[in-house]
Amino acid sequence: MVALDVLRSLCKRRGFVFQASEIYGGFESTWDFGPLGVELKRRIADAWWRDMVVSREDIVGIDSAILQSPKVWDTSGHVSGFNDPLVDCKTCQGRFRADQLQESACPRKPSKHPGEHGDCDLTEPRQFNMMFKTRVGPVEDSAAIAYLRPETAQGIFTNFLNVQQSMRLKLPFGIAQIGKSFRNEIVTGNFFFRTREFEQMEMEYFCRPEQAADLYGYWIKERLNWYHSIGISPDNLRAEEHAEKDLAHYAAACTDIEYRYPWGWGELEGIANRTDFDLNAHAQATGKKLQWMDPQTNEWITPHVVEPAAGLTRTVLVALMDAYDDETLEDGSERNVLRFHPRIAPVTLAVFPLVKKEGMPEKAREILKRYLDRFPCLYDAGGAIGRRYRRQDEIGTPFCATVDGQTLEDGTVTLRDRDTMKQDRVKIEALGDHIDEASRR
Ligand code: GAP
Repeated sequence: MVALDVLRSLCKRRGFVFQASEIYGGFESTWDFGPLGVELKRRIADAWWRDMVVSREDIVGIDSAILQSPKVWDTSGHVSGFNDPLVDCKTCQGRFRADQLQESACPRKPSKHPGEHGDCDLTEPRQFNMMFKTRVGPVEDSAAIAYLRPETAQGIFTNFLNVQQSMRLKLPFGIAQIGKSFRNEIVTGNFFFRTREFEQMEMEYFCRPEQAADLYGYWIKERLNWYHSIGISPDNLRAEEHAEKDLAHYAAACTDIEYRYPWGWGELEGIANRTDFDLNAHAQATGKKLQWMDPQTNEWITPHVVEPAAGLTRTVLVALMDAYDDETLEDGSERNVLRFHPRIAPVTLAVFPLVKKEGMPEKAREILKRYLDRFPCLYDAGGAIGRRYRRQDEIGTPFCATVDGQTLEDGTVTLRDRDTMKQDRVKIEALGDHIDEASRR
């Protein structure tokens, strides 16, 4: 498993992830995605959207505002109940999350977890609210207080009627959204595993109450399979059901899809049975009837909800960790490879002219132009071919096509596979299908 500092330096060197405000010394565990990082994130989000929304008749998407009425967060329970238990150390003055002491470091040497030095003196846990407060408008009074959303889910619940009625949806149906969320986390760190600003991919699946238990099982399987489909190793994934005492205030049951991070198993996605908690709470607070009428029986039903809630930025981190490989080749040389699945690789095809003459650069650019609309492509004419392959290996490009003398005669290129390093001659017009075929595997 890759060490975090090795991954972090690769991410900076190759333009995946930079520390935010780096030239000012950085800021509070915030991160900027560089040219390859944003492409990786976008492709993961696209794969999720395609599989969860576009390819399904029963799920539609929305994009709701980050700022909502503060009443939404009163009703959802976040203002009063979205708390983390904190402990202080009276010896080192450090402040830690009581339920994450094993992920935290005591600031003193030798490095240990809080509470593990002989003279650590931790207080009893106190509750700390994680909502990010801000003000809306120019007037500095309490009426203008608003919150940055801590989950995308509530924008879905508050639009339940709008979406159901405008799209004439019948149970069961889902509403999905991808977007930023904000939490004033106490313990951040492990690169961008836990940050205060992050992106989520959430879907609320509304169903009849008696369907919820089966759908909860269905979505756990679906979501595990989805991670396999973007190339995350099944050996590094597992589903862990929460004990009742650990459930969030809105959930009747919850299973985490966990990943084997370098520091141990941890959450990647939560699949919760939220029952009718949210629709009921918003209906009570607004007096609106957040229900659906069964056209066959004319009976009004408050749907129950199964929610697969994934972290987009966290999935980017997992994709990088899982893809990383440090390989010693038969000739004893080393290569760094990111073995991204072709579905999510930031560059799918790199095109090289063997030399910068004899019409090869022009031919290579022609190939690039031909396939740019189909998948992300890149042109590289710099240095020896072996060096160019290594550069693409390091950013995870699954295919490299080289234009050489034969290309100009018979319209074929050498297509080199990142993982096997095998080279085949492939017709230029067959490249797209060849790559699409590999992306489906
Ligand atoms: N609507 C339910 C909900 O938000 P959650 O388990 O709190 O559930 C869902 O969040 C996912 O969002 C998590 O599994 C994780 O991937 C991601 N996530 C939550 N907090 C995060 C943070 N501080 N930094 C990065 N990702 C986070």
